[in-house]
Amino acid sequence: MKGQGHVKRAIEVAVAGGHNILMIGPPGSGKSMLSKRIATIIPPMSLEEAIETTKIHSIAGALDSERSFVVTRPFRSPHHTISDIGLLGGGAFPNPDEVSLAHNGVLFLDELPEFKRSALEVMRQPLEDGKVTISRAAGSLTFPSEFMLVAAMNPCPCGYFGDLKRECRCGPVQVQRYRQRISGPLLDRIDLHIEVPAVEYRDVASERAEEPSSAIRERAVRARERQQKRFAREAKTNCNAWMTTRLLKQYCKLDQDSQDLVRVAMNELNLSARAYDRILKVSRTIADLDDKIDISPEHVSEAIQYRTFDRTLWV
Ligand SMILES: Nc1ncnc2c1ncn2[C@@H]1O[C@H](COP(=O)(O)OP(=O)(O)OP(=O)(O)O)[C@@H](O)[C@H]1O
Ligand SMILES: [Mg+2]
Ligand SMILES: [Zn+2]
Repeated sequence: MKGQGHVKRAIEVAVAGGHNILMIGPPGSGKSMLSKRIATIIPPMSLEEAIETTKIHSIAGALDSERSFVVTRPFRSPHHTISDIGLLGGGAFPNPDEVSLAHNGVLFLDELPEFKRSALEVMRQPLEDGKVTISRAAGSLTFPSEFMLVAAMNPCPCGYFGDLKRECRCGPVQVQRYRQRISGPLLDRIDLHIEVPAVEYRDVASERAEEPSSAIRERAVRARERQQKRFAREAKTNCNAWMTTRLLKQYCKLDQDSQDLVRVAMNELNLSARAYDRILKVSRTIADLDDKIDISPEHVSEAIQYRTFDRTLWV
């Protein structure tokens, strides 16, 4: 993968802490390619996570004699034609499906605006609570669904809005309608928003060596190890993304300068309380990647930079 340094960095942060990420860019800019590469840099599961994940796959009937134990983090990529039930689970006897099969792993939704509006809206509960409740006549069951959402989309129906080389053929109303398929509350739950510009030909053609994905993976693994130590006594929390309010208070303390930064960003970007919590969690992960116990203003300002779509694209 050539160039795209800032995108790779955002992906590293997302993977290190289990945060949700949305990539926006024109056709051919490498969004799908980058997303699929996430599987190669994601840190391994702990034994506990593997057991939990295996249980769900077993209930869903997704295991067989060749694959009787889930050892690597799941990477689920359902097509955009999927139904609400296919995503959340259901049936006469409630069965877990995609959001639960992605538990402790990645749920990749390519071409996000193409998904049914209802399917995107039902994602809100699992994204917020890390679990999904399926109610049927036969009863209701709750399954865990602590996945990392990776989503990709074009900026407009033709794909070239904001592109430097090609002209967008869409009218403002079309662009707005396209983006509004991603509702504010859904966007709110996505921690990192990142623009993926078309790569320059000379970048793709260059012989300059890129950092190998193994180096990115190693940093992510170390950051996860810090988290595992931190949450060793917490039965339910494995990574920064799923910190409870209590853990957030305990481990995401901000100094005065950092607090000031967040306050300004909250006002300027008109952020919700939910976005505020998510910025703190991402800051924690950036500090972990930096091998620091305390969160500092530079960590916070990087985390804030990843919330740009709240302001620029969706108003
Ligand atoms: N940075 C890059 N380095 C190397 N190859 C690249 C890069 N970016 C794009 N490519 C090439 O372009 C192809 C298209 O990329 P990809 O399918 O990921 O684009 P996309 O952003 O998902 O486009 P679309 O919006 O049409 O889905 C890739 O298969 C790859 O061969
Ligand atoms: Mg694509
Ligand atoms: Zn367009």
